Amino acid sequence: MQSQTKKHKTQISNVLVIGSGGAGLRAAIEAKLSGVEVTVIGKRKKEDVHTVLAAGGINASFGNVDSQDSWKQHFADTMIEGYHLSEPRMVELMSKEAPMLVNEIDSWGANFAKLPNGAIDQRYFGAHTYRRTCYSGDYTGRSILKALIKKAQELEIPIYDSQYVTELLVQDNLCFGAMAFDINNGQRTVFLADSTILAAGGHTRIWRKSSSRRNENAGDAFYLALKAGCTLKDMELVQFHPTGMVVPEEIAGTLVTEAVRGEGGRLLNGLGERYMGKYDAERLELSTRDRVAMANYLEISEGRGSNNGGVFLDISHKPKAFIIEKLPRMYRQFLDLLMLDISKDPMEVAPTAHYSMGGVAVEPDSHSTGIEGLFAAGECTAGLHGANRLGGNSLAEILIFGKRAGHHATERSLSLDIQFRSTEVIQKAHEKIDGFLKDGEHVVRPLQRELRNIMWDYCGVVRDEKKLDEGLRLIKQLKSKVHQLDVRPDSEGFEDLMLAFDLEAAIMSAEATVLGAKERKESRGSHQRSDFVHQSEEQRVNYLIQLSDRGELLVNQESIPQMSKELKHIIDGTDEIRDFSGMLLE
Ligand code: FUM
Repeated sequence: MQSQTKKHKTQISNVLVIGSGGAGLRAAIEAKLSGVEVTVIGKRKKEDVHTVLAAGGINASFGNVDSQDSWKQHFADTMIEGYHLSEPRMVELMSKEAPMLVNEIDSWGANFAKLPNGAIDQRYFGAHTYRRTCYSGDYTGRSILKALIKKAQELEIPIYDSQYVTELLVQDNLCFGAMAFDINNGQRTVFLADSTILAAGGHTRIWRKSSSRRNENAGDAFYLALKAGCTLKDMELVQFHPTGMVVPEEIAGTLVTEAVRGEGGRLLNGLGERYMGKYDAERLELSTRDRVAMANYLEISEGRGSNNGGVFLDISHKPKAFIIEKLPRMYRQFLDLLMLDISKDPMEVAPTAHYSMGGVAVEPDSHSTGIEGLFAAGECTAGLHGANRLGGNSLAEILIFGKRAGHHATERSLSLDIQFRSTEVIQKAHEKIDGFLKDGEHVVRPLQRELRNIMWDYCGVVRDEKKLDEGLRLIKQLKSKVHQLDVRPDSEGFEDLMLAFDLEAAIMSAEATVLGAKERKESRGSHQRSDFVHQSEEQRVNYLIQLSDRGELLVNQESIPQMSKELKHIIDGTDEIRDFSGMLLE
């Protein structure tokens, strides 16, 4: 097949943001408000990015409902429930800044539920000491995204949809933008910028059951970051949400929000037993996500599941009007997909890959990556959530660290006299795209499916050395096929090309995840190993992954960051190291 023309358009700005979800938009707004020109590019339509799927809420310790709440309690809850692997400074920043950012997005139109006194209402979410989760029904992410888009439009920030980024442009440890092509017509654009912010999500679509949709969260942010020279951290720490849909099969894994349990939903097994008391007698369904996910997994794998391989989540004891007010999306989702009225019947649910807690290693305050001119924000970064993310902290993360990355990216741009570029690096990025544009033996979708099955079967909710080794072998086998892909631009556009890059990204992210999972020889939070069932103090470390010049992924261990005296004081006394995970698998 003829290679595509080497011609590209050039687009120049001070700050380039890759990803038009919540983190990217908040970063762009900050840059624009600070007086520089910013461009946002995303592969999906801006109204339909992954942020719209964030359902149940965003955390901020207002204390509007439970007045005892404080940023310190939010800090302690996040550190403890993350099994002490979180970056303390990042958690401190989130806990302190969340109220300000939630008020701000509310004033931009996010439409949070209010108490009769006009203050923002707050609901229970799993393992929070107090009611801390602010919400708009069960479509909080969509509501936040709409407010961000409106603000970005008021500020006349250009947002280009359907732009697939193939490469961060880097020379001598300096990032000067990105190469992208338009998924509809293949038009290539070189986006030049003083600062680039990577906000392109995680990699949970690479598991067979996933709360991410087709063509999102394929691990593309990790692929771009590794190739640019960034370090990834704790890739094995992937959150399995306890409640994804079980049927219909084509959409297995679709999120059933934690807000159902926050509003009183109960989990029942196939025998009709309410079982959470066995796993967390105190908090029941509002235990930590890792524990509820394991409980569901064990009920199913030990033969007490439903006929379709799930358990039941029941909210039908609540009045219909209450369900429609608090959980409008869930009500509609089950009616639309299954003709099931959740005010009458229970939902069938099972664990689903939901969130990448590991990712690009960043400096906590600025979210700089170690590559000059390159910042990262949102789900693609590591550090905030440790080994188990508290529900509602991810929406807080995207606003707080999106804003911070935007600010620091702007500062860097304002400090420069000239903008760097390298035609040689741009030429190489063209060659990489050209290399994929050919007829070949394999089409991508079946290989994608194969990878998703491998990750589910060999690096899923419960792992062990044998499974991980086999998973790694199969991933490497799949990797050898990437050179023989059939990529044909046609009347449907350049989707094949996007899928080819996505597959390469997914394979690299899968390999990084399995390598990290092999190294972490313990059970901690979301990382459950049946051959190492306890937490190990020796393993209270971070695992770093880098791409060598020869294209191999290398893993190293690093000590966790020290906590300041002030922060240590907050959790001293409230903390007991939890070893529930070991208890679950023994
Ligand atoms: O269940 C949920 O609504 C998910 C929230 C979150 O992941 O933060």
